[in-house]
Amino acid sequence: MDLYEYQAKDVFAAHGVPVLPGRTVDTAAEAERAAQEIGTAVVVKAQVKTGGRGKAGGVKLAKDPAEAKEKAEAILGLDIKGHVVHRVLVTEASDIAEEYYFSFLLDRSNRTFLAMCSAEGGMEIEELAVERPEALARVPIDPIAGVDRAKADEIVKQGKLPAEIADEAAQVIVKLWETFVGEDATLVEVNPLVRDPQDRVIALDGKVTLDDNADFRHAEHAQLVDERTANPLEAKAKEKGLNYVKLEGGQVGIIGNGAGLVMSTLDVVAYAGEAHGGMKPANFLDIGGGASAEVMAAGMDVILGDDDVKSVFVNVFGGITACDAVANGIVEALGILGDDATKPLVVRLDGNNVDEGRRILAEANHPLVTVVDTMDDAAAKAAELAARA
Ligand SMILES: Nc1ncnc2c1ncn2[C@@H]1O[C@H](COP(=O)(O)OP(=O)(O)O)[C@@H](O)[C@H]1O
Ligand SMILES: [Mg+2]
Repeated sequence: MDLYEYQAKDVFAAHGVPVLPGRTVDTAAEAERAAQEIGTAVVVKAQVKTGGRGKAGGVKLAKDPAEAKEKAEAILGLDIKGHVVHRVLVTEASDIAEEYYFSFLLDRSNRTFLAMCSAEGGMEIEELAVERPEALARVPIDPIAGVDRAKADEIVKQGKLPAEIADEAAQVIVKLWETFVGEDATLVEVNPLVRDPQDRVIALDGKVTLDDNADFRHAEHAQLVDERTANPLEAKAKEKGLNYVKLEGGQVGIIGNGAGLVMSTLDVVAYAGEAHGGMKPANFLDIGGGASAEVMAAGMDVILGDDDVKSVFVNVFGGITACDAVANGIVEALGILGDDATKPLVVRLDGNNVDEGRRILAEANHPLVTVVDTMDDAAAKAAELAARA
């Protein structure tokens, strides 16, 4: 999960990383009041989960509360790269002397963590990495050893941060590492990390990505979820413990067992859909190895609740859980759902005990179910039914 800037900074503050005081508000009138309370010149900042807000007009300086109101009016409702601004952060304006770049991230290709640091911050880091790669230090971090003061000093040196603030910066970097590890983040980015005229080092922007796989260790992270932008189908699936991802612009609901099979099912449906007016898969859903009737019913319930879905393709390869168990699961799931099951279902079963599985489905003879023997034919059938609906 990505955090908003204000959430990232709350997390920073909790780990002792210096940030400026601020308040998040939803209306221009509240922005005026927030500026009054802060009592200095402020910066009004769009809270959307995308970078480049400054360039897009989502970060504006306001010298007094009246101006803060004006700027908030201009920013609220703005569309920044497809993200509509519902909330702004009103924060103390910093008298910036210099802007630096800093991040910790998971370096998947090298299977380790990486620190990136540069004395040239503020601009988009992707640009800097391409145009002046020598200005961006990349320092691998041993996950066991982590980042102590000596390592932080090395990062500061390689990033060529100025000597006057080297000590401050190293202290901040150690705290950012504590944030990274303590919160189970896969990214902690500060762009810009600034130096003010008093040589204080402050995180002026913050981007944090939390590792959802570690949610069980962080009950407190649940409150960081923004219900307003969360997809309701994904939220429902999560509640039921399903591996579900909604795909925009699709019409064919997908249920499969095993992530690899589901991924290839998406491809096959997208390909088959081209012959049927461009029908596409509407979701990823892996019901896993167990494929019990309850899990099947839960999965079907989520998918049938998606208004975009016009047909459903159930693609199961029987393994330890054999096809007859899966077929029984489908029949029972349809029983559980009753009148809530309203969309045509194309079922392809193969693998362990396939004959018995197909026999069970044939015997149940459910009006919504079509059994097709191969994956390609089943995908074509599901696309055809979706196009016809
Ligand atoms: N509190 C602040 N005081 C002064 N300038 C700021 C403040 N916050 C941001 N800025 C300026 O605006 C620029 C863009 O803001 P930032 O938070 O980095 O948003 P984004 O990265 O989405 O463009 C910063 O590089 C900095 O120059
Ligand atoms: Mg930034």
